[in-house]
Amino acid sequence: MYGMVHRAARELAILRHGESKWNAIAETAGVSEREFISAEVFTDAVTISIVSAVADADGSPIDRTLLELGRHWIDFAGRSAYSNVMSMAGDTLPDFCRNLDRMHTSIQATMPDAIMPSFEVEAQDEAGLTLIYRSQRTGLETFVQGLLEGLMERFKVEGTVARVDDSHPIRFRLTYKSA
Ligand code: HEM
Repeated sequence: MYGMVHRAARELAILRHGESKWNAIAETAGVSEREFISAEVFTDAVTISIVSAVADADGSPIDRTLLELGRHWIDFAGRSAYSNVMSMAGDTLPDFCRNLDRMHTSIQATMPDAIMPSFEVEAQDEAGLTLIYRSQRTGLETFVQGLLEGLMERFKVEGTVARVDDSHPIRFRLTYKSA
């Protein structure tokens, strides 16, 4: 994945463990400054090794850290050079979800080697929405869960996010808290 994703993981780790612990985490992951150049692309193995090292420091299973990275990504990307792209993707949670693919496609203009996921709003009503997630990767479901929780927070929508079942394609249900 692009170094920008690694930067988000580094920022999360430093927020939780401080700068001093970061050097040890980077050493465990086997990475140097190079892996944090936003516009460079690395194999997913590098990304996983960074997230695993952060999870070790957290004392959590990798899925827990992936969930938190997803939540953090929404905040991180919202402060990044791509904040405008995010603002333009929609003013409401459903609109934003419908525009996710267009948003990633426009980002791909500056990150041509990115392998982007795809999202489809399958159902939407007053109680919530169902989103289908498709990817060439596996194992990122909890990352997506965290992203969706982060989006609910961004749009100040109270509620829950849950994977619908184990079937494929992967579906998430966003349930709004009833007033
Ligand atoms: C401005 C905001 C965003 C930027 C700049 C961005 C950029 C990226 C980049 C660079 C990757 C890595 C792809 C690669 O290197 O191969 C990625 C992956 C991903 N993005 Fe985004 N993204 C943004 C917002 C979002 C949001 C809001 C979601 C919410 C659902 C999302 C969902 C994902 C997922 C799930 C992946 C993992 C790839 C996969 O599943 O195959 N992104 N994005």
